[in-house]
Amino acid sequence: MVTPAENKLFIQALDGRTHKIPPLWMMRQAGRYLPEYREIRASVPTFLEFCYSPKLATEATLQPIRRFGFDAAILFSDILVVPDALGQKVSFEQGEGPRLPPIVDAAGLLALRSRIDLEKLNPVFETIELIKASLSKETALIGFCGAPWTVASYMIAGRGTPDQKPARLFAYENPDLFQILIDLLVEASIDYLERQFIAGVETVQIFDSWAGVLPLTEFERWCLKPILRIVEGLKVRVPHARIIAFPRGVGSHLEAFAGHPGINALGLDTSADPIWVSRNIQSRKPVQGNLDPFALIAGGRALDESIDRIKQAFAGKPYIFNLGHGILPETPIAHVEQLVARVKSA
Ligand code: CP3
Repeated sequence: MVTPAENKLFIQALDGRTHKIPPLWMMRQAGRYLPEYREIRASVPTFLEFCYSPKLATEATLQPIRRFGFDAAILFSDILVVPDALGQKVSFEQGEGPRLPPIVDAAGLLALRSRIDLEKLNPVFETIELIKASLSKETALIGFCGAPWTVASYMIAGRGTPDQKPARLFAYENPDLFQILIDLLVEASIDYLERQFIAGVETVQIFDSWAGVLPLTEFERWCLKPILRIVEGLKVRVPHARIIAFPRGVGSHLEAFAGHPGINALGLDTSADPIWVSRNIQSRKPVQGNLDPFALIAGGRALDESIDRIKQAFAGKPYIFNLGHGILPETPIAHVEQLVARVKSA
């Protein structure tokens, strides 16, 4: 029997169906480039209060769908609600990004909860239910979490860093302690994603934004294995779970994910070569990406040509059109309209 999810273009592509015109959404499609987002964001003092307000988070999720008719909505939240629900207090400084009390030693690790507090994340699950009640039958709903390595990099540094130096050093100097943190995040992510599915998401994306900085051995230990453990653990609890992995910046290591049966699609960053990907990855898994967010800021011919190159390389096999990383706040709305028209034209 055909279930409603399987009538959605985006879900069909994840399941391996090829479309002449691909489904489309954009990473960070809700957010500061939209005046209607800036307006509702100004109604609460802090970003986390915004994330934990089901009405506001639902509205932020729906805004880009109303404006652009994307094929998928993504839950409005942040990857750092997980440390927050593990007992590490998270805040977002205006214009400066996230701040957490850095974890520098075993005592910092011991201060965390031993399991994620899902009660604290009830507003997120309530948001998913509200979104589901308002989405049209064509639009899929994506949940997400950060991958353990990326989330740990913020937990150790206490903030965003250009090179993830604190976490990289911590992992070399205290591998056993770092393993404990990664294991905790693997379990927390499985619990959290399971509840997102129960609340109504149809797929989840695992964001490993900083996967690309590690050498092979460390990549395998801190990125690949933990993500595969999440995939396997989630599939046991939610056998129908569809999962997109987005290990940003890993180049040819994408092949290590492409072979895993539990992963439905692979997110591609801006640097992935569409021709290489179509030969080596897309032959095994649907892919998603990978327009440069700066081409979207530039607009004009550069944007059209970038879109056409991606469409040509991925045509004839299943793919989802997206950016290679999140849309930037200074992006003109007219350029997003140009993107939608061009991707959706034959
Ligand atoms: O539209 C969507 O994609 C859904 C919402 C979403 C946000 N963050 C909202 C947000 C998603 C999926 C994320 C993921 C996220 N958050 C990642 C992984 C993806 C990536 O971009 O690499 C990471 C590393 C974070 C951590 C984070 N959150 C940082 C470093 C920052 C500050 C930098 C910034 O862009 O401002 C945030 C804040 C944040 N998360 C904002 C939004 C809309 C901006 C805060 C605001 O609006 O006041």
